[in-house]
Order: sequence, then structure tokens, then C-alpha cells
Amino acid sequence: MRPKTSFSPDSITFAPFVLVPSTFPHHEFMKVKSLQPAINKLIHRVAHDQKFLKESLMNTVKVDDFTGRLFQIYEAVHSEGISQRISLGLLRSDYFLHSSTGRVLQVEVNTIASSFAGIATQVSLYHRYILSELGAYEHLQYLPDNQALQSLVAGMLKAWEMYGCEQAVILFIVEDITYNICDQRFHEFQIQTQNPKVRVMRCTLTDVGQYGTLDKEKKLYVKGKEVAVIYFRAGYSPEHYHSSLEWDARLLMERSKAIKSPSIQYHLAGTKKVQQELARPNAVERFIENEEDAKAIRALFAGLYSLDMNEEGDESVKMAIKNPHAYILKPQREGGGNNIYGKDVRETLERIGKKKERTGYILMDRIVPPIQKNYIVRPGSAPELNDVISELGIFGTIIGDSEEIFWNQEAGHMLRTKLSTANEGGVAAGVGALDSPYLFS
Ligand SMILES: Nc1ncnc2c1ncn2[C@@H]1O[C@H](COP(=O)(O)OP(=O)(O)O)[C@@H](O)[C@H]1O
Ligand SMILES: [Mg+2]
Repeated sequence: MRPKTSFSPDSITFAPFVLVPSTFPHHEFMKVKSLQPAINKLIHRVAHDQKFLKESLMNTVKVDDFTGRLFQIYEAVHSEGISQRISLGLLRSDYFLHSSTGRVLQVEVNTIASSFAGIATQVSLYHRYILSELGAYEHLQYLPDNQALQSLVAGMLKAWEMYGCEQAVILFIVEDITYNICDQRFHEFQIQTQNPKVRVMRCTLTDVGQYGTLDKEKKLYVKGKEVAVIYFRAGYSPEHYHSSLEWDARLLMERSKAIKSPSIQYHLAGTKKVQQELARPNAVERFIENEEDAKAIRALFAGLYSLDMNEEGDESVKMAIKNPHAYILKPQREGGGNNIYGKDVRETLERIGKKKERTGYILMDRIVPPIQKNYIVRPGSAPELNDVISELGIFGTIIGDSEEIFWNQEAGHMLRTKLSTANEGGVAAGVGALDSPYLFS
């Protein structure tokens, strides 16, 4: 990764990692892996259910300006008529093991900028190397194969093929400064490995605002190149939109014929509010007809509570104020560092009181994962043996439109590990470390 201190665009340093793979129960790992296609389908269907999205986000969009603006774009492209019916989902569903039950619970599903497929694939290989170096050959069989990068890129290339223009490029929407540069670059290199004819372009939202145009058929052109697929690695945070130029760029892309990952409805389907609404009784069943799958997905959900301005919301607030350490307060934001923990849950809810601002948040049961010991290796400091907890991510790829699903796959995994005392574990944010699972039964 590029270092945040003593930054230079020309230098990188190694990403934090743990020395040996952390253990994870085989049964739970296999369960969420095999459920990923059903989770893909769930998100895909939610994204295409206008009524559900609208009802779920109705109150949120009134108080949360960012989600509100995304929703405006969604409504604008709908009323104009969608020019690209196909969406590409590159998802990552995240889990913690719940220590009291030994079962996994879902933290969230990411529908935009699901990162680390590139580096996680390398870490899996690296842990093989380390165990071999240690002479622990008999343990290698417990390290699952990981094809996250290959699988995500296969999904992107399938979408590129479906767009149907050999000269058209895959456009990566990137931040002004990309710290997680190698992870992104690995995707580019893998695209070329799988299909040397496909060109990748990297642009910021500002670039697209300046150089993006639509032709009569709504084909998107940036700097003279037709765009087949747009892969958003930025655009999930208000900070990525400096002015109306970037918002105009987002709207332009959504109106275009390019296949987007995510399309605006996929982005909205990934909000915390939608996650909470999906946890209501019979909500999953509305989208997943297979009863066994629906039941299995539901069993992954932790307690999720609405904070809408009604009796139900008042009850959630009371519960959280009474026992703030048992819950996490979440605004509609992605990318880490936005959630509220511990006594701040109480303070925030007391400060907000009966103000409508409350509906911008949701409340979630705090999951308590089991603690293990491992060495976190970081640039510039000696590794120490620490108490750590691990969060598993399962990638999935899906391509389809409102009627049909053309492609639906589980797409590898990633594990990240953090100090047991840390609230959040973002690797890019400098708290988490990359890991890979050691499966035990
Ligand atoms: N219910 C929870 N219990 C325990 N930790 C959580 C829970 N929800 C989130 N976290 C921690 O906070 C981090 C960020 O939360 P998340 O909901 O994934 O938001 P973001 O969209 O910012 O990634 C997670 O990676 C996890 O470490
Ligand atoms: Mg997350």
C-alpha cells in the first residue's frame, strides 16, 4: 500500500498482515461460501425492487443528504428510462464468528468498492509459504485455495463481453489518491492476463466530470474511449464528491449504456438501512423463494433495529441507552470509521433526542467474536504477540437484469484481523491486518 505518512506517489510499503493464518471453523466457512450465490441473488432482487427500496429508504433520504442525493440519481434514471438493464455485482459479504454460539453472523454486504480480492489472494499464498518455512507441512491442507482475484475479474470480463464492443474499455473510478493501489493494480493485471485485448482506464469522478460525454445512443465516452464497464473503487463517500461536477459525473455514468458495478440501485441496496429492513420478518422470503436458502440467510442476521420516528424506534433508543455496549449505532456510510460504539452510543442518542436526524442511523447488536493470539506485522514496528479477532469476507459476482440472472458465483474470500480491543478493523484505515483462514473441524 502507499504509506499515509511520508507519502510519495512513487513509493509503496507492505500492507499489514498477520504472521500465521488465524483459525476459522471449517463448517461455518463452507456454509457462507455455499450460501453466497443466494446472497448475491437476494441483493440483486432487492436492487430491482423499486417499491422495497423506496419504502426502506423513504425516511432516511429526508435526513441523510448523501443517501438522498444517490436516491435522486436513482429516480432520475428511472424516470428517464434505463439505458443499460444489466448490472454487475461484485459483492463481499462480511462475517464475524459469534463466540457464544460458534456460528457466523453477518456484519454487512458491500455492494460498492469491495476491496482486497487482489491482496487477499496473495496472502493465502504467503501463508502457505510461511507454514512451509516453519516445516509445518501437515498443516497446509487446512488452508483453503483462494481465487478471489481471478473470480472477480472473470465477472468483470463477462460483463465486458456482454456489452459487446471490442474497443470499449473497463473504467476504474478511483480516489484522488489511491492508498490501496496494489490491490487495484492486481485487478488490472489480472484483466490483462485473462484477456490481453481489454484495456483499463483509471479516472477520478472529477476526470469523468471534465471529460465524460454521452452520444445519442447513451454510449459513454471518456477521453475518446467508449466505456463498456465501470468499476467503482470510489464514489461511496461524500468526500469523493468535491462539487456538483462529481455528482454530475455520477449521474452521467448512471444514465449511460455502460455496465456499472455497482449500478445506482445496487449501491442503494447496500445501505445499512436496507440491511436493517431486510432483517424484518418475511423480508428475505419476499426475494428468495427457496425456503432452505431463505432460512439459512436469515440465520446469519444479527439483531438489527430501526430508529424511525415511531414507537418501534423509541423502543430501540431506550434499549440502546440502557445497555449501550451491546449495540452499534451505524449511519449510512461505507469505508470504515463511521460507526458509533460503547458509551458514545448513549451520548449520541441522548444528544439527538427526538430530532429526525435519528432516522439516518440504524442500530445493530454488537457481535463478540472469539479471541485468538497472533503476530501483527506492520511497517516500522516490531511484531508483537497480541489478542486478535478476525472478520471473514466472502466475495460474490452476479450479472443480471430485472428479469433474468445470467451469471451468479461465489468468488473467493478474505480474512482481516485486528486487535481485540479495536472497534473497527479497516486494513486501509491502518487498524486491521490481512490474514487467511486456517480451517479446523
Ligand atoms: N455488529 C457488529 N458487531 C461487532 N463489530 C462490528 C459490527 N458491525 C460493524 N462492526 C465493526 O465495524 C467495522 C465497520 O462496520 P461496517 O458495518 O462493515 O461498516 P463499513 O461500511 O464502514 O465497513 C466492521 O468491519 C467491524 O469490525
Ligand atoms: Mg464493512
